[in-house]
Amino acid sequence: MTRIVLASLFSALLLISCADYASGPFHPRDDDDDNRPDTTDTTTHPPTDTSVCFTRDVLPILLSNCTMAECHDSYRPEEGIDLTSYVTIMNGGKSIVKPGNPGGSKLYESLVTSESEERMPPPPRSLTQAQIDLIAKWIREGATNRDCSKDSTSCDTTNVLYTAQVVPLMALHCTGCHGGSSPQAGIDLSVRSKVELYARNGKLLGTMSHSAGFIAMPPSGPRVNDCAINTIKAWISQGLR
Ligand code: HEC
Repeated sequence: MTRIVLASLFSALLLISCADYASGPFHPRDDDDDNRPDTTDTTTHPPTDTSVCFTRDVLPILLSNCTMAECHDSYRPEEGIDLTSYVTIMNGGKSIVKPGNPGGSKLYESLVTSESEERMPPPPRSLTQAQIDLIAKWIREGATNRDCSKDSTSCDTTNVLYTAQVVPLMALHCTGCHGGSSPQAGIDLSVRSKVELYARNGKLLGTMSHSAGFIAMPPSGPRVNDCAINTIKAWISQGLR
């Protein structure tokens, strides 16, 4: 029991660690130029680098909370704002992000405005304060297209537990749509029995892996990272503990 509590605390800390303003070096130009060798020694010091990674930290929040149909997807984006990729967010014709200036960025303003009709996402959906802070930090750090997916060398799938590993994954990638008072497709993935149901019938892994024959989830943008997929795979093969 203690172990489960500790494990979930740890994963919660991992999730919010990127919202930590005070510490960590700031590498504003890290991934600006793909042709230039990256001199940042990320492999030996990953825990000290708390800069926000767009692909790992920001995009999942936007995909899960803002890109449902008739919102900011690419099919018919509300107000022309398509939040499904870095390119569409930055070059959508409407500059909703001003690098370095969260207060001047419509993306951030819409999350914190006191004007209830303007505030995003519309109720009953909402972002957590940690998610809002993380988006602010990303903009303040220069709103780069930083991708840390290759930084983390370890993906521990030896003992996957629902509360410790699966819940945070669903919260980051899925429950923005599959949660709350009217979950998409009637599927609430914040409920364990539902997650287990879709784990057993193969659709959880099939949709997340974008496997042939399954509807790709999340429906917009890239699939979740390999560690997330391997974690779900291990959770299933270890018996849904
Ligand atoms: C932007 C909103 C959104 C996000 C984020 C999202 N889904 Fe979905 N999901 C949907 C919609 C809409 C459907 C119904 C699709 C359809 O029937 O065409 C659906 C359907 C499903 C289904 C049923 C598929 C079937 O064949 O019956 C599963 C399983 C599923 N989603 C899992 C997930 C998982 C796992 C995640 C996170 C990795 C996720 N979804 C993220 C909107 C979303």
